[in-house]
Amino acid sequence: MNPLNHVAIIMDGNGRWGLKYKNSRNEGHRAGLRTVEKIIRESIKNNIKFLTLFAFSTENWKRPKKEINFLFNLLENFLQNKIDDLYNQNIKLKILGKKNFPKKINKLLYLSEKKTFKNNRLQVNLALNYGSKSELINAFKSIKKNKDKITEKTLSKHLLTKNIPDPDILIRTGNTKRLSNFLLWQIAYTEIFFEKKLWPAFNEADYNKIITNYKKIKRNFGNI
Ligand code: FPP
Repeated sequence: MNPLNHVAIIMDGNGRWGLKYKNSRNEGHRAGLRTVEKIIRESIKNNIKFLTLFAFSTENWKRPKKEINFLFNLLENFLQNKIDDLYNQNIKLKILGKKNFPKKINKLLYLSEKKTFKNNRLQVNLALNYGSKSELINAFKSIKKNKDKITEKTLSKHLLTKNIPDPDILIRTGNTKRLSNFLLWQIAYTEIFFEKKLWPAFNEADYNKIITNYKKIKRNFGNI
């Protein structure tokens, strides 16, 4: 059975779910946050060490301002209300992406990372203002600046995911088969699962089914 350390998720389908059931895209995001909490709990139960969630991409800035504001309010309330809870559950929070949000949000993100820095039961990486291509460009620039040799190892060390093992599983909900500029380097050998359900409808049973299927896969990493 394959070991499972790291699950990455593209949480797609909030908008569609919200429009269908609540006549509001934003209500889909609110429901999506409830799924985030479920999946965090289930990851701990499954002894997973890293969970990386794509919460906001560099391309998501193109969305209407109202939706962007709603998402960041949701994040702000979530961190204000739940950071002690996350801390007590021994969860470490890490932000992947440039923190160029309103001052109040930046501060909250820094404080949340600092508070949970030493925790080690589950590391939740929140990809926020994240884009894989820009991450790679910055990595190459920093290698050049440091006059390091370009190898797979040095490149990995200059990515935002340094010290984080590559994902074993990538899940994308929402019935769309694309990678949307997410962890393009890191998923070279990741097992990918495309899930038809929209993110707010995704539940523990769906997650466990994917984990069970993953464990049975023969992973060759190019070998036979
Ligand atoms: C994609 O669905 C989802 C997002 C861009 C935001 C993800 C946010 C959450 C799951 C909730 C908030 C999480 C935190 C941590 C605050 P979409 O809006 O692109 O859906 P669509 O494809 O149906 O339009």
